[in-house]
Amino acid sequence: MLERVQKYISQAGTASRRKAEEFIKSGQVSINGRKAKLGDKVDPAKDKVTVYGKIITPAEKFIYLAINKPKGYVVSKSDPRHRKTVFELLPEDLRTKVWNVGRLDFDTEGLLIMTNDGDLTQALAHPKNEHDKEYEVTTQEEANDSQLEHLREGVDLPTGTTYPAKVKTKSNKIYITIHEGKKRQVRRMFSGVGLTVTNLKRIRINKLELPKDLAPGQFKEIKPSDII
Ligand code: URA
Repeated sequence: MLERVQKYISQAGTASRRKAEEFIKSGQVSINGRKAKLGDKVDPAKDKVTVYGKIITPAEKFIYLAINKPKGYVVSKSDPRHRKTVFELLPEDLRTKVWNVGRLDFDTEGLLIMTNDGDLTQALAHPKNEHDKEYEVTTQEEANDSQLEHLREGVDLPTGTTYPAKVKTKSNKIYITIHEGKKRQVRRMFSGVGLTVTNLKRIRINKLELPKDLAPGQFKEIKPSDII
């Protein structure tokens, strides 16, 4: 069956769909020796696809990891400012195989999923699927009811009004569940209602809770059915 080349690359476990599209646009992908264009079709049974000159062969095994990202790490394969990356927390044999699903800010800690499964990445990344992401937030000021209600109803940001969120409090922490993933969204929502975030931790992605026994910097293997 013919498949679009970007889908083929991500299903083979070489890169996420978005990254595969970048490789194609920058002319690093060939099909049978000819430079590929976005949307070109390939026949996995007979076509030879290369990325950066290396032949794509489907991954022998899909890998799914939950990592507890510590603060002070970037979610990126490399950093121009030479800060520590979450990939440095993985052994070398895994580091080169997986990519991150979504991101967390440098100062945010908590649950991050890493995989080489392009379909799962796509399913989790697509906003239409509305996968919950829950965060535990500590703020400098004590939140009042009207601020909590404002967070629930939606906050006007330069990128648009946020969708309704679930918000609850326990002890001195606020728990917010959103299903969007705009840049620094939680911090910007809180700042929009007059609250300063002093600690931000992701504690759940859809079904998957941050495992209680996973210390910052540790990771563990999980199954896709733990997430979706
Ligand atoms: N919202 C933020 O502000 N930062 C994150 O890292 C994740 C969600």
